[in-house]
This record gives sequence, structure tokens and C-alpha cells, in this order.
Amino acid sequence: MAIERVGFVGLGIMGGPMAANLLKAGFRVTVWNRSPRRMEPLLELGASGAASPAEVAAASEVTVSCVTNSPDVEAVALGPGGIAEGAGPGSAYIDCSTISPGVAREVAAELAKRGIDMLDAPVSGGDVGAKAGTLAIMVGGEPAAFERCLPVLQGMGKTIVHVGPAGSGQVVKLCNQVAGGLNLLALAEAVSLARKAGVDPAKMLEVVGAGAAGSWMIQNLGPRAIAGDFAPGFMVGLMQKDLRLVLAEAAETDTPLPGTALVSQLFAVLQAEGRAGDGTQALVDVLRRLGGGED
Ligand SMILES: NC(=O)c1ccc[n+]([C@@H]2O[C@H](COP(=O)([O-])OP(=O)(O)OC[C@H]3O[C@@H](n4cnc5c(N)ncnc54)[C@H](OP(=O)(O)O)[C@@H]3O)[C@@H](O)[C@H]2O)c1
Repeated sequence: MAIERVGFVGLGIMGGPMAANLLKAGFRVTVWNRSPRRMEPLLELGASGAASPAEVAAASEVTVSCVTNSPDVEAVALGPGGIAEGAGPGSAYIDCSTISPGVAREVAAELAKRGIDMLDAPVSGGDVGAKAGTLAIMVGGEPAAFERCLPVLQGMGKTIVHVGPAGSGQVVKLCNQVAGGLNLLALAEAVSLARKAGVDPAKMLEVVGAGAAGSWMIQNLGPRAIAGDFAPGFMVGLMQKDLRLVLAEAAETDTPLPGTALVSQLFAVLQAEGRAGDGTQALVDVLRRLGGGED
């Protein structure tokens, strides 16, 4: 039977627009957010509000979450008033947060005991992709649960790939952060050299971005970076959270990731300066100062 009722827990930069797109796709959507003010725009669009993740799950066939890190997923899924308390057997839970693959496997195993299917389905595409409904979604879990939940995933994203059993979606997301982090460093170094050598960085990005070195980072974050617009799409603090997850997985699997370790150390400069809330494009400032420039 087609899924009609979808719940959403965690209406932040990503979750807010993802929930709005589920409404646009025609689902009946019930929402909850820890800070209630973030529920208001969704209620205005026609969502129903709930008092806890358990209430969201009780009202929904499929519940989606997009919260910050592993302990937050454990809290909203398994904690008091959590999704497991309200979800019936046969329902499904899709977690779109970026968390540890090991924790994703543990939560899936705990929910399976109660007859609830879980998919780990982290996303890529930033605030821009969340609003446009064009996210790339990498999904781990049982193939049958993936097939059943596909219409919900299609309401939030465009490229949706089932990549393996529970935890695999998170592993692929960590691979995404390796490539994304190094692309950010490439952008920051290219801007740094253009500035130091007296070339307009906007002209440089216009042509470099159209050639073989082009990237999502250059296209979407390049203009913000050179304009000094450091409002977050994706916050430095969240990137560091992800890079810590990457380096932990690398340690566990004996995978050398020298470039990623360097990117993480450069972001640590911004964190030490109290700029964890800036967007990741602020990496250009670190490179600028390494080159003797001022902010
Ligand atoms: N922003 C991006 O470009 C991007 C791209 C891909 C993936 N992601 C991933 O998506 C996830 C969300 O990122 P975001 O940018 O949307 O962050 P955000 O704007 O900070 O939103 C985080 C959301 O999680 C909620 N939350 C956190 N801890 C919680 C807890 N213990 N219990 C209940 N709710 C909790 C927050 O509630 P409050 O409102 O009460 O704080 C908020 O709704 C992260 O895992 C991030 O790594 C982000």
C-alpha cells in the first residue's frame, strides 16, 4: 500500500526544507523539533505538530530524522519519548543525519527487535539541494525496506542509491566528506594563489569552474567565499564532526587518509577562533592568513 503519512524529526537547515518538500510531494506530514519555533514555518505550510518524536512516529507510517550527530540519533530514536516508543511494528524509520556507521548499525538492530525497519540515508547537496529537492541520498538497509520507502526518499532527493546493508549509507557519506573536504581545500588554495598573484579570483573561478577542475564547491561556495559571505550552508563545526567520523572509520579500517587529516587540521584553526558556526567556505580565510594576508 502506498505510504501517505510521513513524520519528520529535526527541522534544521536541512530538515526544514526536506520536510517542506515532503508536503509538496503530497504526503501528510507530522513534525517535531526540539526548539519549537523551528516548527512554525512547517505548520504554516500545512504540517501537523507533535509534542515528541514518539508522537510523530505514532502518527506516521514512515518517520524521517535529520539531527546532528550519533548521540542525537540515539536520543530521538531510542531515548525517552523517542521514535521507538511510538512506532508500530511494520513501520519504517529513515535517518538522514550524518553519524557513525557503527551507531547506525546498532540503532537498526535495536529497532529490528521491535519490528521497525531502519534505513541510514545521509544526504549530500547542501542547503541548496535540500531546498530544491535535488539531494543525493546514499542508503543502507534491507532492500525491501528501501523499495517501500523509495517514494519518501524521492520526495527529498534526486539521485537515490541503495549502497548495501545497515551502516553502508553512512560509510558512503564519509567517502563523500573525504572528497568534499579536499575539494574545499582545492577551492581555497586556488583563490589564495589568484589573490597573491594579483588576479581577480571571481574571473579565475568563472573559467576554472567550467573546466576539468570544476566542482560543486567552486560552483556553489566559490562566489560566497570570495565575497566574504560566511553564512552557513554547512557549518564548520558540522564538517569537523564529519571529519572526526571519517578519521575514526579510517583508523578502524587501517585506511591512510593524509589529505583529509590535513583538511581537518585547517578547519581546527577556524574552530579555535570561535568560528564553528561559519560556513565551510571560511576555509579561504585560513589559507589567506597562512599566505600573510588579513581577513
Ligand atoms: N547543512 C548541510 O549542508 C548538510 C549537508 C548534508 C548533511 N548534513 C547533515 O545533516 C544533519 C543536520 O544538519 P543541519 O545543517 O540541518 O544542522 P542544524 O541546522 O544545526 O539542525 C540540526 C537539527 O537537529 C536537531 N537536534 C540536534 N540534536 C538534537 C537532539 N539531541 N534531540 C533533538 N533534536 C536535536 C536540532 O534541533 P534544535 O533546532 O532544537 O537545535 C535541529 O533541528 C547533520 O548530521 C549534518 O551533518 C548537513
